[in-house]
Amino acid sequence: MNNTELAHGVYWVGAIDWDIRDFHGYSTYRGSTYNAFLIIDEKITLVDTVKKSHKQDLIREIEKYVKLEDIDYIVVNHVEMDHTGSLPDMIELIQPEKIICSPMGEKALENHFHKKDWPYHIVKSGEEVSLGKKTLQFIETRMLHWPDSMFSFLKEDGILFSSDAFGQHYATGERFDDEVDMAEVMHEATKYYANILYLFSPLIKKLIANLQELNLDIKIIAPDHGIIWRSHIDKIFQSYVDWSNADCEKKAIIVYDTMWHSTEKMAKEIWRGLDTAGVPAKLINLRYQHRSDVMADLLGAKAIILGSATLNNGILPRMGEFLTYMKGLKPTNKIGAAFGSFGWSGEAVKIMTDLMEEMKLEQPEPGVRFKYIPTDEQFEKCFEFGKRIGEAILNSDK
Ligand code: FEO
Repeated sequence: MNNTELAHGVYWVGAIDWDIRDFHGYSTYRGSTYNAFLIIDEKITLVDTVKKSHKQDLIREIEKYVKLEDIDYIVVNHVEMDHTGSLPDMIELIQPEKIICSPMGEKALENHFHKKDWPYHIVKSGEEVSLGKKTLQFIETRMLHWPDSMFSFLKEDGILFSSDAFGQHYATGERFDDEVDMAEVMHEATKYYANILYLFSPLIKKLIANLQELNLDIKIIAPDHGIIWRSHIDKIFQSYVDWSNADCEKKAIIVYDTMWHSTEKMAKEIWRGLDTAGVPAKLINLRYQHRSDVMADLLGAKAIILGSATLNNGILPRMGEFLTYMKGLKPTNKIGAAFGSFGWSGEAVKIMTDLMEEMKLEQPEPGVRFKYIPTDEQFEKCFEFGKRIGEAILNSDK
């Protein structure tokens, strides 16, 4: 098997984006891929396309196996532009007999490309399309993560084309999980879930139950980003079960920004308190860590402790940006706490406390704030604050 063949007559024909470092505000240090797949059967079928910028890569990959005009069907599992940017041009070149999509997919395609005369073939959950010897079965996955999203399952080969689910922003010349460093891939899969799918966790729980009920014989999971799972399916599947259940470890992250180092010094004392209580904790200065990396750290941590100095009666801008982002991703089952230094008005701790309340984080301790440069006694109070939060974490359910 060469490294683009998933099964006999089924090929990866996507594109590798080595350079992308920002995916609508999510940092992608390892680049990404836009995966598309070709099924060669009586009806030659292209599953998904790629971002517009990478159309030529898609065409080159397809032409290794067939001529564009030989393709009969295009399946659109998801309408977001990283998978459909090249679709109008590809439809023009291919002139497909069918564009297979979900009911919401048709609406989204029309709203994106304004083409009512494309040969849409709408499929609902459970419907199948025969390609000749092989059969595609469709599973709508509404709001995972767009209303139009769906999975396609190639029954005879046990390949689940899972769109964004189980994906990772990870550029590599290798295509399969057993060809790459699993620690790197799992880090990127974690970050992907934390930044793209986290808020949909209740729906993911239902989807997993649905997949288990369908009892599909899944041999390969082929997402639209990153590597294809064939040797570690249980690992990624179990991770999705854990993440969607909001399971976490009894550890904490301290996320802060500071003006003249007082909040930073408070953060270090709080860290010392957590460490003394026996809770692993990570100190994160928002000046140096991207919000999307913080979300990856938060996913598996029981507690988040937020620190900001007060600036202009508010919180520091990096903290404001982070909290806006975090709130949208709807973390659950977390303990929270707030701290910070101030000069005269001192609103930051209350603002962070109120925001965590809106996010329904459990806050076992009222926030702590100290004026200008804390005294040794006040730093000792930060240490005790950290210790008490540590004890609350140890006494919490996971
Ligand atoms: Fe990879 Fe939701 O697009």
